Amino acid sequence: MTVIDHHPEMPVGAPAAHGKHLTNITLTIWRQSGPDAPGKFESYTIDSISDEASFLEMLDVLNEKLIGENLEAVTFDHDCREGICGTCSLMIDGQAHGPQKGTATCQLHMRKFESNATIVIEPWRATAFPIIKDLMVDRSAFDRIIESGGYITAPTGGAPDANLIPIAKPVSDAAMDSAACIGCGACVAACPNGAANLFTAAKVSHLNLLPQGQAERYSRTEAMVETMEEYFGSCTNHGECESACPKGISIDVIALMNKDYFKSKIKNRRNLDRN
Ligand code: SF4
Ligand code: FES
Repeated sequence: MTVIDHHPEMPVGAPAAHGKHLTNITLTIWRQSGPDAPGKFESYTIDSISDEASFLEMLDVLNEKLIGENLEAVTFDHDCREGICGTCSLMIDGQAHGPQKGTATCQLHMRKFESNATIVIEPWRATAFPIIKDLMVDRSAFDRIIESGGYITAPTGGAPDANLIPIAKPVSDAAMDSAACIGCGACVAACPNGAANLFTAAKVSHLNLLPQGQAERYSRTEAMVETMEEYFGSCTNHGECESACPKGISIDVIALMNKDYFKSKIKNRRNLDRN
């Protein structure tokens, strides 16, 4: 089937005042009508698209056309489209979030591609992320990890004044770097083992590094690691997760998590939680 962009009501498909147009783009997209339905690749052609269009805007143009032809639109996840929420999740030409490093799918633009390109678009491929439909997967296994320990216990009442608890700059920087994780799941999709160690370690570390996270440091680590292991594969240090991560989370956090997990196993957890 041939699908042409340039929908008159879609500004992204209209001729750009600046930049150029890419022509004859073939999209090979995974289509699957439901979790248990068999899936297959289908190809569509975008005749012309501005290189200033984002990748998701290009899919919007495709969907407008499909709907106009009474065909079913391609289902894909998206929300903020600003690299914040972690909802977008496409495997593009075999790379989680596509060819631009440090970029979520929603921040990728068509200028990264050439005319006459064939672009293969798939959902995240991981047992723990079952396909819901087409390019949308169920990432609720991440929620189970967070529920098991991704919080602190704090007294109720008014919020304490800012800077009441002194925190060394390198520590707050490291905690903020970990807190940059948007929970997209690219690390799992890129990992040949389908491991979620980078995600879990980022969530563990942003709490374990800070004074407020010390009270439950070891019980948290143990619970989150063991919940992770219920759903995901094991880390064997491929490092693909770090390369795929749109927020540049370092695999150093996995070492921090492993150290705390090890401590929680060999020492009396109650004593550690008190100290
Ligand atoms: S660690 Fe990176 S790739 Fe993994 S969920 Fe967080 S932001 Fe996404
Ligand atoms: S849609 Fe929110 S990060 Fe991509």
